[in-house]
Formats: sequence, structure tokens, C-alpha cells
Amino acid sequence: MAQLNSNYLKLKAGYLFPEIGRRVKSFCDANPEAAKRLIRCGIGDVTEPLPLAARDAMHRAIDEMGTREGFHGYGPEQGYEFLRRAIAENDYRAKGLEVADDEVFVSDGSKCDCGNILDIFGHDNRIALMDPVYPVYVDTNVMAGHTGEADESGRYGGLVYLPCTGENGFVSALPDEPVDLIYLCYPNNPTGATATRAQLERWVAYALEHEAVILFDAAYEAYIRDASVPHSIYEIPGARKCAIEFRSFSKNGGFTGTRCAFTIVPHELLCHTDGGEKKPLHPLWNRRFSTKFNGVSYITQRGAEALYSAEGRAQVASLIDLYMGNAAILREAVAECGLSVHGGENAPYIWVRGPQGRTSWELFDAILGEANVVVTPGSGFGLAGEGYFRISAFNSRANVEEVGRRFQALRW
Ligand code: MLT
Repeated sequence: MAQLNSNYLKLKAGYLFPEIGRRVKSFCDANPEAAKRLIRCGIGDVTEPLPLAARDAMHRAIDEMGTREGFHGYGPEQGYEFLRRAIAENDYRAKGLEVADDEVFVSDGSKCDCGNILDIFGHDNRIALMDPVYPVYVDTNVMAGHTGEADESGRYGGLVYLPCTGENGFVSALPDEPVDLIYLCYPNNPTGATATRAQLERWVAYALEHEAVILFDAAYEAYIRDASVPHSIYEIPGARKCAIEFRSFSKNGGFTGTRCAFTIVPHELLCHTDGGEKKPLHPLWNRRFSTKFNGVSYITQRGAEALYSAEGRAQVASLIDLYMGNAAILREAVAECGLSVHGGENAPYIWVRGPQGRTSWELFDAILGEANVVVTPGSGFGLAGEGYFRISAFNSRANVEEVGRRFQALRW
């Protein structure tokens, strides 16, 4: 009889967002009137129309595809030259950061990249991640067999959890045991916290000293407002030798449904073979791409390229202004309820400490039942998220204002 991957059986419950979806559906089925006024601030999914520059470029690309001369079949798995160049030039070289076009790998999403990257690492790495954490980092390691079973609290054996709390400003201290792979996400999902240059310098120094690799998820970098906060791990000297960076067009260009992202794997980044030899990771990631992926559609890549045009940039900036304006409204409304509020200043997520003694899921149920607003329970991101909930600022202005009013009417 064929054998299944029993690592999947270790996974706790469902993936967080489908689980929230199930609970919301059963609430709506039982309360059809309340369902009509439901406002979703749970999953961080954008709500505003795609920028015109991207739509125009995609229309043109479709028309090209309708001609014999302009038709595109399989493209380069790693992405078309035009997009790899636009990314390396605009996101990095124009800012004084060294990234070559062929270090850019265009994909269909950062969530996929964060999971797929494990293919090019061995199975004996000690893995460090923040708690609370974007659940994809944990679950993909469970699936790959890099962990033991989960304990009562939901933490998996074999992972090094680094608590991010109000006390450490939601940026953890360095691990006090050696680790080989380190997931960092800044601006952070779910807490909305940012890491300072000095903090990132400490992580890079740690990684260089321990020959560890940092997996740096910068999906929310476009939301940074504070000029002193780094947008890229490559702003830190030495990071090209120890870090992979993930970025996405989902949250800046509104591509959550269109699907386009990229990973940077520098040529200098080396890891040990089983025999102790040092080899670059770049050819492995390239090999993985060409074997398991056929690239993002030409049409989508033309849309992503257009986000770097003058009009595209202006349109992205106004989307981000809208969502960050929402974040400010939500922050203020929550603070007026007397709750302690974090994030939302350089990130589209507001991280709220609920009243003492109430669990995250209790808060989720109360907010859903009484205000008919969907938030994300903090404990869904890890043990250290217990007692918190996350509000996503991705919504229309009118909905966000209504959420603010409903929060103030709640009895906290
Ligand atoms: C979130 O809500 O945490 C994110 O939207 C999920 C994602 O980007 O995959």
C-alpha cells in the first residue's frame, strides 16, 4: 500500500485562515441578519481595484498574445528578463544595493516561495522563528519533516521559538542556542512591528558568525513610513552572504488575486554539503525553479513591470496611503477603547492586546458576534499571540470607519 507523508498528520487543526473562514461561515449561516453587516478585517487581503498602469499593461499583453508575432508560450521559469531587470534596478540598484538581474526569481507568490525554499535546504537544520509568526513558516517545516509532534501549547518539537512580546517591542532577542535557518519578517506579520537597522545588524552578525541563513520576508516593505527603518536585509553589510529575501506585488500592487512575487538569492550565499564543502545556493534554487515551475504568465509579468512606471508608482503610493490612513483610523479607534495598540504605523496590521483574562478566540467570537467584524485571533499565530487579536487595514475607508464606530460601541 502506498505510504502517505505522515508529517502532515502532525499539523494542528486547519491552516489559520480557512479555519477562520469556517467559523465565520457557521456564524453567518446561524445569523443571516448579522451576516449582512459583516465586515472582514481578518485575512490581509487587499480590497481596492488593481492600479490602472498594471491593467493597461496586461490589456496590451493580452492583445500581443493574440498575434502570431506577439504570442508567448513557455517563458523563462525564473521570470522574463524585462521584469527581473525592473526589479533589480528599481528595488535595489537604484537604492545603492547590489542585486544582479539573475539573482531575482519571479514566482506566483511569497507564501509559495517561503514554503518552496525548504527544498534546497537539508533536513538537519535547526530552525528559529518568531512567536507570533506567519503560520506558513511553521507548517511548511512540519510538512517537510523538520519537526517533532506539537505539544499541548501547539509548539512543535525541534523548532526554536523566539517570543516577540510587548516587553521586547515584538522584536526577539538572538537565540541562546545555535540555529541554522532564521525566519525574519519585517515589517512584521502579524504584529506590524519593524526592526531597526541595529537589530538587523545583530541578526546578520549572528548569521555570519554561525554560518546560518536568514530567510527575510519583506512582503510589507512598501508600508514603511519611518525613513530610518530598512526596507531590505541587503541594506545591512554582509547580508548578501547570509540572507535570502522574499518580496511580493500582492500588498503593494494589489496582486493578491493576480499572483506575482519574487525571491532574491545572492550568488555569494553559500551553505555546507553533507561532506562539509561550501557550495552556493543560487544554482540549487535555479534548478528547483526550472524543474518544478513553469513561470508566471507573460501577461501578469507585464502587469507587475508596469508598477515600476511613473504612473504605476504613483498609483501604488496612493493605494498604500489609503491603507495606511485606514490603519491610523483603526489605531485611534482601538486606543479610544482603552486597549493597548501596536503596529499600524509602518505596516497594514494593527496588533491589539485584549482585556486581561480573555483568550484570543474569545475576543474573536465576541467581536464577530457583537460587532459583526472579523479579526484574526492572535493565538492563531502562536502561543505568544494569546490574548491579542490582529486587525487588517486592507478595506475600504467607509468600512474601516464603520469598524471604528462598532469597536467603540462594544463593551470591552
Ligand atoms: C495574512 O493575513 O496574514 C496574509 O494575508 C496571509 C498571506 O499573505 O498569505
